[in-house]
Amino acid sequence: MEQILFRHNRPGRCVTFAEYQGEGGFVALKKALSGMSPDEVQQAVIDSGLRGRGGAGFPTGKKWSFVPRNLTGPRWLICNCDEMEPGTYKDRILLEANPYSLVEGMVLACYAIGVRHSFIFIRRGYEQAAANLRRAIAEATAAGLLGENIQGSGFSCDIDVHVSAGRYICGEETALMNALEGKRANPRAKPPFPAIKGLWGGPTVVNNVESLANIPAIIAQGPRWFKGTAATPEASGMKLFCVSGHVATPACFELPLGMTLGEIIDGPCGGMRPGSNFKACLPGGASTPYFTPAHLGVPMDFDPVAKAGSRLGTGGIVVFDQHTCMVAATLNLVKFYARESCGWCTPCREGLPFVVHLLEQIESGQGSEEHITILKEHVQYLNYAFCALAPGAMGPVDGLLRHFEDEVREHIITGKCPCRS
Ligand SMILES: Cc1cc2nc3c(=O)[nH]c(=O)nc-3n(C[C@H](O)[C@H](O)[C@H](O)COP(=O)(O)O)c2cc1C
Ligand code: SF4
Repeated sequence: MEQILFRHNRPGRCVTFAEYQGEGGFVALKKALSGMSPDEVQQAVIDSGLRGRGGAGFPTGKKWSFVPRNLTGPRWLICNCDEMEPGTYKDRILLEANPYSLVEGMVLACYAIGVRHSFIFIRRGYEQAAANLRRAIAEATAAGLLGENIQGSGFSCDIDVHVSAGRYICGEETALMNALEGKRANPRAKPPFPAIKGLWGGPTVVNNVESLANIPAIIAQGPRWFKGTAATPEASGMKLFCVSGHVATPACFELPLGMTLGEIIDGPCGGMRPGSNFKACLPGGASTPYFTPAHLGVPMDFDPVAKAGSRLGTGGIVVFDQHTCMVAATLNLVKFYARESCGWCTPCREGLPFVVHLLEQIESGQGSEEHITILKEHVQYLNYAFCALAPGAMGPVDGLLRHFEDEVREHIITGKCPCRS
């Protein structure tokens, strides 16, 4: 199977600058700067069908096209490497193995959007990834691939690495911009959208690490080739799936978008671990509704997963076996979100701790039928929060109530957790 992002990987260590260049690295950048206009680079990304890998799946080239062309002030590109969602670790794995695809992809994106100065906003704990990035930026600058007048093209751009203060909400793109500006990381109202008014009031594009790291391959090998690496005609490109939980081989795999969930678990993951049967999974990170054995045939691509009632999200697949109490698993997730709420809006600040309380009561055998009704209402209410954190937090609760209501009710009827007996 062809690899795009992992093609330069070395066992147990990071690829070197010389190795990356020797394997076609920075060819895309040289090709773009010597023979393609910024609009042509943008069009290639649109034609590739690349959809954002940060969770929402918004088409990357289309997002770039929202930045007004005719403004004279500064505009910004921010690479989002906050990656604090439980179960998601793909950007760390990528950057620990190869920081160069991201650096090259960012220069290409800056060229396409007309950005002079860009940032990588990175999770505080990602020390190895940040060190790799700083080294890659220094090497690329010394080689004339970053900085002033790149390759004599007249185009200049810089990349700064900014280490996050360390809260989950800093990954939300507008909270991230506030954090970069040195303010408290509360989300901003939208509109105006960042492409019009973002960092320091200038047009801003925020893209995920994986989205940007795919750009060099799209430019070097063409949008049609990129699209064709997917498993289905509707999908486009490869995806990093970071799998954890009760599978035999939990790891981060680069796989064609559109492979089914069952193919991913039975193939690269080596099936379930001995003694385990598949009960459920979070298909796209901690904020996505559960999938069950009925969903093993769903193609892991944005639209099919949404049609099946969940979200592809970040591609962080967390697998649970028959011994998992789904109430306890959900409680654990919602506790994380309640703790990470920025506290800005009432539904989330007050609602998530209340949902935690309800789930705790059910899990400890003290719930009542009314708890189920109130939980269902809260799945609806928390859609009306100020940002996507609260609706995301309710993703697993929504899945719990749709697929495991009998298990929830059993806790209520028996007055204890049936999964532990
Ligand atoms: C609470 C919250 C946390 C988020 N954390 C991240 C993150 O760590 N990394 C990321 O790329 N996107 C994260 N996002 C999504 C970003 O707001 C944004 O959609 C994304 O960075 C856009 O990149 P893409 O278009 O390349 O997917 C988060 C969103 C929310 C609501
Ligand atoms: S939904 Fe939560 S995280 Fe988002 S603004 Fe409201 S309080 Fe803050």
